[in-house]
Amino acid sequence: MADDTILTSIEGRVATITINRPDKLNALNEPTRSAIVGALDRFAGDADVRVVILTGTGEKAFIAGADIGEFEGRTPVAQYRVMNDPHANAFEAADQFPKPIIAAVNGFCLGGGCELAMACDIRIASDKAKFGQPEINLGLLPGGGGTQRLPRLIGLGNAFKLLYTGDMITADEALRLGLVSEVVPAADLMTRVKALAAAIASKSPVALRYIKDALRASVRSPMEEGLRLERTLFGLVFASEDKKEGVEAFLQKRKADFKGA
Ligand code: COA
Repeated sequence: MADDTILTSIEGRVATITINRPDKLNALNEPTRSAIVGALDRFAGDADVRVVILTGTGEKAFIAGADIGEFEGRTPVAQYRVMNDPHANAFEAADQFPKPIIAAVNGFCLGGGCELAMACDIRIASDKAKFGQPEINLGLLPGGGGTQRLPRLIGLGNAFKLLYTGDMITADEALRLGLVSEVVPAADLMTRVKALAAAIASKSPVALRYIKDALRASVRSPMEEGLRLERTLFGLVFASEDKKEGVEAFLQKRKADFKGA
């Protein structure tokens, strides 16, 4: 399926959203952010989709940031409205998406692009990818969660360095810092990410959802609250058919077939 700014496809239990503005290095303008939110909304409600991959068209860019063209002449009131419109907040939509979401970072991953990748659950990078938060070079600061998610992933000192300098780093440096989980040769990126997505898609959707809820809570709440939530979800998961199936399959020495109920 296609619209102007993104392409979507479904293979097996895995959906892919591809940002499709190659002439602008897949920069995020408002229609693109809204299209991402719309696609995530659809995939959240589609029980056949268990995992989503987010990537960019072409080999050059994942997402080269917010569309800088939109900043010129925009009033503070308009900017506030855009950033607080839930229908256009792709960052929160990815963060709150109720299923696993993986960023396949195929090239420039800058500014809002890096922030969107960070809002995904897992980041796998091509060896050609470059990462950075260059907002400082425009007299700006990150507005898609970068000041909050980056230090949680790579530590405060490393985050200060990237945000203060606006410098780009290589995929290997991003791996060393913990910004990505794996770096693979560019030609193998989608094969690797699809294999990872398929492996995750074979697990219990119920348990995946609870894991996501608990992990997201780990960076948003005091530890005691997070531990309480984990124990509650551990009790709740005992109500699922998937837990029954998983335990039975293990004891019967067969592969579990999880239905998401
Ligand atoms: N917003 C709008 N347009 C962008 C863009 C962005 N974030 N990033 C790239 N583009 C556009 C360029 O303006 C250019 O368009 P044009 O052909 O109509 O002039 C096209 O994409 C190709 O980019 P170009 O700069 O020619 O490619 P390059 O290989 O020389 O440089 C980058 C690549 C990523 C280093 C450079 O495009 C860049 O610095 N982009 C901005 C990154 C940024 O600051 N992002 C954070 C925004 S808050």
